[in-house]
Amino acid sequence: SADVRSFFGRPIIIGGGIAGLMTALHLAPEPVLLLSRTLLGADTSSTWAQGGLAASLGDDDDPALHLADTIAAGDGLCDKDMASRILQDASSAIEGLAGFGVPFDRTLKGSLRLGLEAAHNRRRIVHAHGDGTGREIMRALIAAVRSTPSIVVVEGVEARRLAVRENAIRGVWASCSIGPVFFGSRRVVLATGGIGGLFLDTTNPSGSCGQGLALAARAGAVFSDLEFIQFHPTALDGPDRPMTLISEAVRGEGAALIDETGQPFLQGVPGAELAPRDVLARAVWNHLANGHRVFLDARQRPGPEFPRLFPTIVSACHGIGINPLRDLIPIRPAQHYHMGGVAVDGCGRTSVKGLWACGEVASTGLHGANRLASNSLTEAVVCARWVAESVAGTPARRTKPAFAGNYPSPDPVPVRPFLSRALGIVRDGEGLKAAAHALLPLAESKEAASDPAAVGLMIVVSALRRRESRGAHYRTDFPDHAAVARRSEITLEAAFAEA
Ligand code: SIN
Repeated sequence: SADVRSFFGRPIIIGGGIAGLMTALHLAPEPVLLLSRTLLGADTSSTWAQGGLAASLGDDDDPALHLADTIAAGDGLCDKDMASRILQDASSAIEGLAGFGVPFDRTLKGSLRLGLEAAHNRRRIVHAHGDGTGREIMRALIAAVRSTPSIVVVEGVEARRLAVRENAIRGVWASCSIGPVFFGSRRVVLATGGIGGLFLDTTNPSGSCGQGLALAARAGAVFSDLEFIQFHPTALDGPDRPMTLISEAVRGEGAALIDETGQPFLQGVPGAELAPRDVLARAVWNHLANGHRVFLDARQRPGPEFPRLFPTIVSACHGIGINPLRDLIPIRPAQHYHMGGVAVDGCGRTSVKGLWACGEVASTGLHGANRLASNSLTEAVVCARWVAESVAGTPARRTKPAFAGNYPSPDPVPVRPFLSRALGIVRDGEGLKAAAHALLPLAESKEAASDPAAVGLMIVVSALRRRESRGAHYRTDFPDHAAVARRSEITLEAAFAEA
């Protein structure tokens, strides 16, 4: 294994998306090691983010209104205190990003241009280069990280296991081109993103397959709200996998949903095109299940403005022979975001000593049962500062070097059909039980599918336990809300025992 003793004791951040980069920048000048599976910026959901960051910046807005919309979309499950703290800090998070050089879109007068997205009662979404927001943020943050001498970035390194003794972190076993490697540290931050790679139809990069959840699960961490998986109503229904997102901002600018008859079909859906994401995804899914095809009609609105506002989407449409100024855009829902994750407190601390989580991998309670659009980048940027402060306030202690464990590279392909069938927009007990039955032997094996299967198993058992429908978790066998809304908790050990 490689000699990495010079890194021992430094905090380690696993993941090079917005949450990881911001945590590293906030920790400076404290030396920190950032491990990234790929070259920074490649194959991360952050780079692909089209929709921007939500913050109450308009004259007609304030954090309490933003909180009210967040809680309404979250369908009774948001942690109100946590949500309130995060949203209070949203504006300063955007100022911070602008300070790193993110070129947010502005009006002719120079103020931030504010977009509208579904279930927001105010215009409060900031973008950069239209739908290139994630790419522009990543460009600025990568430049800042590369010019910060205290941040050591190690690219092409995949974390495989956390070393834990007496429920406390001792380091990270990882794999890189020269073989297995051990990084000793008592302070590790997970910033590994989401789980889209576990699904057949997703808007996430296929490499986002729940690695951070698997690391935390094998370390014995507690998870919350894992059953809540968000499906975006409008992914481009073309040949490519992963699927291209057609941002909600397109509907915010007036595009309409119609079917193959040319007629609108959302008459019974309160809020119609701008209904909360769980509601709209179910409406589209039902219409497709009834044998229709569904399209976005952007020809009138945003019409001629479309290419300027959404250059990335226009180029993806052109790639499959569609001109949004002239043609309808075929869409279908696709897995997009995971509301649940590693349970964290107000500083991002998990239940394992010395382990923090930030961004999509974490469950802060902000999103409840259904995330409000564009709250996730805001959450990642705000929480990165709190995580960094907490890490910096935790004393560094030396750890003993350990020999590298050899764990296979995770392979999500075998689990995708099971999870896609059981954990879709509409679920039922029979399907969930069948998935648990199929996943258990895979999760217990020593094979490459065992980590994705272990993550899938925890989600499936969480979904089985929730005998109600709420937000993004809809069960045909329990179609109503329970009388009391409760957040859920699970560990890998409990999932194994119950499967
Ligand atoms: C979108 O642009 O529709 C996605 C934004 C988000 O997921 O928050």
